[in-house]
Amino acid sequence: MTKRTYQRDNLIVHWDSSRCIHSGRCLRGLPEVFDLQARPWVQLEEAESDAVTATIETCPSGALTYERVGGQPEQTPDVPTITPHPNGPLHVRGYVEVRDVTGAVFDAGPRMTLCRCGHSNNQPFCDNSHREAGFKDRARVISPERNDAQHPPPAT
Ligand code: FES
Repeated sequence: MTKRTYQRDNLIVHWDSSRCIHSGRCLRGLPEVFDLQARPWVQLEEAESDAVTATIETCPSGALTYERVGGQPEQTPDVPTITPHPNGPLHVRGYVEVRDVTGAVFDAGPRMTLCRCGHSNNQPFCDNSHREAGFKDRARVISPERNDAQHPPPAT
């Protein structure tokens, strides 16, 4: 597991390799900044801060996060959402805390990919083991019969 911090002027970028699921969105979104051939692989001076933050916000796993120097954390939706990726993890968007069985905060962040196949070696986060395991969700979580989950009946 590798954790790194990169900083330029008003921007601090955090990288946590243990959370990365290699979606490649950073590499495709801003290749002049996120360059696996460069050392360090994050070259913040190659783009404006707003472009860097916009690209980081596309990172589904939260392996990349940022903060502005002097305040202003990453803006997140008021209401977190959890969206299943077909045959893959649950994508969490919006600041959430993950707690252990004692209720202690285990991790927290604005984006996460949580394992739902049960095969990850990095629980509760996805590590792409679902691919090797051949996980198939059979679309249960997106079937029309499950739409009532968005509008649960009132408590009686
Ligand atoms: S969903 Fe990716 S490892 Fe389980």
